Amino acid sequence: MSMKFDSPAGANPIDRQRVIGRPLDRIDGPLKVTGGARYAYEQHEAAPNAAYGWVVGATIAKGRIRSIDTRHAEAAPGVLAVVTAANAGPLKKSSSHTASLLGGPVIQHYDQAVALVVAETLEQARDAARLVDVDYVAETGRFDLASARSQAKTASDQDAVTSAGDFDTAFKDAAVKLDQVYTTPDQSHQMMEPHASVAAWQDDKLTIWTSSQMVAWAVRDTAATLGIPRENVRIVSPFIGGGFGSKLWIRADALLAALGARKVGRAVKVALARPQIANNTTHRPATIQRLRIGADQRGIIGAIAHESWSGNLPGGEPETAAQQTRLLYRGENRMTAHYLAELDLPEGNSMRAPGEAVGLLAIEVAMDELAEKLGIDPVELRIRNDVQFDPEKGPGRPFSSRKFVECLTIGAERFHWSRRNPKPGQVRDGRWLVGMGMASAFRNNLVRKSGARARVDGRGIVTIETDMTDIGTGSYTIIAQTAAEMMGVPIDRVEVKLGDSLFPVSAGSGGQWGGNSSTAGVYAACVALRAAVAQKAGFNAADTDFVDGHVVAGNRRVGLGEAAGADGITVEDRIEYGDLDKRYAQATFGAHFCEVGVDALTGEVRVRRQGGAFAAGRILNPKSARSQVIGAMTMGVGAALMEELVIDERFGYFATRDLADYHVPVHADIPEQDVFFVEELDDKSSPMKAKGVGELGICGAGAAVANAIYNATGIRVRDYPLTLDKLIEKLPMA
Ligand code: MOS
Repeated sequence: MSMKFDSPAGANPIDRQRVIGRPLDRIDGPLKVTGGARYAYEQHEAAPNAAYGWVVGATIAKGRIRSIDTRHAEAAPGVLAVVTAANAGPLKKSSSHTASLLGGPVIQHYDQAVALVVAETLEQARDAARLVDVDYVAETGRFDLASARSQAKTASDQDAVTSAGDFDTAFKDAAVKLDQVYTTPDQSHQMMEPHASVAAWQDDKLTIWTSSQMVAWAVRDTAATLGIPRENVRIVSPFIGGGFGSKLWIRADALLAALGARKVGRAVKVALARPQIANNTTHRPATIQRLRIGADQRGIIGAIAHESWSGNLPGGEPETAAQQTRLLYRGENRMTAHYLAELDLPEGNSMRAPGEAVGLLAIEVAMDELAEKLGIDPVELRIRNDVQFDPEKGPGRPFSSRKFVECLTIGAERFHWSRRNPKPGQVRDGRWLVGMGMASAFRNNLVRKSGARARVDGRGIVTIETDMTDIGTGSYTIIAQTAAEMMGVPIDRVEVKLGDSLFPVSAGSGGQWGGNSSTAGVYAACVALRAAVAQKAGFNAADTDFVDGHVVAGNRRVGLGEAAGADGITVEDRIEYGDLDKRYAQATFGAHFCEVGVDALTGEVRVRRQGGAFAAGRILNPKSARSQVIGAMTMGVGAALMEELVIDERFGYFATRDLADYHVPVHADIPEQDVFFVEELDDKSSPMKAKGVGELGICGAGAAVANAIYNATGIRVRDYPLTLDKLIEKLPMA
């Protein structure tokens, strides 16, 4: 069965908002803080007596293995096996991976796995890994985007280039013009939990307890890589210590654990050590972005172009940094383009709002520069360029909902934006130069089909099962809220089971689609469950309501458990989406504000406060949504000030590969973070009338920091991250 969502949602039980929309604590919170939540590497009972694997990574970036000698490693204490491409059995590269998860003889990037050492203990495996002797033939690689840029081609994605009107002419004729280039570096996800898996075989059936955002993709790609039927693969991923995009697809830990377990005939666990992650897995590619904006004297944009260059391994995809520019501002003459160069760095892929997160670092600084040229307040400039329809496709494609101007005005008021001195470098607080900046927030709203199983037992307990994951986002809680609302029970009468491929396939967690889409799937399952319960109770489903633990129709009223009967009732359903996301542009909006202090002597930047107003449809749980957004705003500060995978171009690897070298900020670095959700229901997004919110908070947050630094100092740096060495020589005291 499935529920087709192809026309705007009418009134439904979610609108009651007795449980939905409340700032409830996480139902998995106690498990998390007591250690009761078992992460992949901790599945001791599920996979007892597991052996330990250690991944050996390539020490060249490009070339091939001439020979590999595993004899010393195999003879080391405790070693059970050494798996290499030569003895692993046939492997296919799944289409989800640009480079093979187990390399050899061809090496595609530094730290690509070339072997797994399996031993009785972790220490024995790690020690023996040093004894694997690999003889490489290295080839010259390409590691620098700026030099590869001239070879870049239009990316192969179907809409790599978009345009409307005549940009060149309109830009040439514009009264006020801006033409600037901005660069962003390679970045690393740096979620807390590293990639980790435990694999066990029973005959030809494989189970992997792993840390995966997308359970069904993990099943698909594991089966494809090993060449076994999907029915023989079970993926279990109930708790995840963050993913940020790096766990959308299985990585070497999962595949090598499976190969190791098959070789030694017992369970094998594999985790990547923190310093292996940057080069063994994926990262966000660096970008070079050119922005051209032409406006009239009132600031109305008539021409806008955003071009972005990024690099990837052959066959890889671009960082789609111009994405937001297709929908954010008005302008009849426009173009965007994504160009892709081949590089031999590790695979670039999705990270923390791919596209917009770095695209807004460029366009939102460009808008700040344009506002200054025009002498118009940056908030006002954005208001004047609001557009209520897809500006590339025209008024025939309106937004499903767009409360962008509300975000700008409410956000500005809450932040006391009017106190900002528009002239840079004027405000001094002791040794600190103080400034304020702002930027727009934009992130596409994606929807994906999603299924769930819903059960009510004889005691009236509701159980939801779906392969949806909770990557630290609060999925358990909002799914429980959805089921509680639909079935008319308190949230403590709902049990939620997630992250197991035995359960119906869900939207999974990615691209901020998970919250809205997975709860919509639970909604569909609960609609089916309500009908089944009503039918069993002999009620007419259409006028049956579910309130206060009871099933009510007219003046008849029975307890939910009683209506379900001793055996209970179980149903399964899913939501599928029609073309509402084609007919309507669907996106989430916001406005970021930031105040910084810049040390006038050293250039050290301190974020003093951040504020933002956001419109993302119905907010299912304001507490978990706020946590998502402040976490994302903190990541925005990271992108602005410190995050950078520094490339050692001699050898083609990322040198900043642990948290001592790759710096990320934490909440404690930012004394004040204010988040306001503008009231909005989006009936074209889903029956939940919600939209994504998880990634919106990072989108634009870093540009607000950059603009605040400019306002504080009068120094415009267009090359991220804005580290103090880029400021210090231009500071007034220098
Ligand atoms: Mo997200 S970067 O699609 O997990």
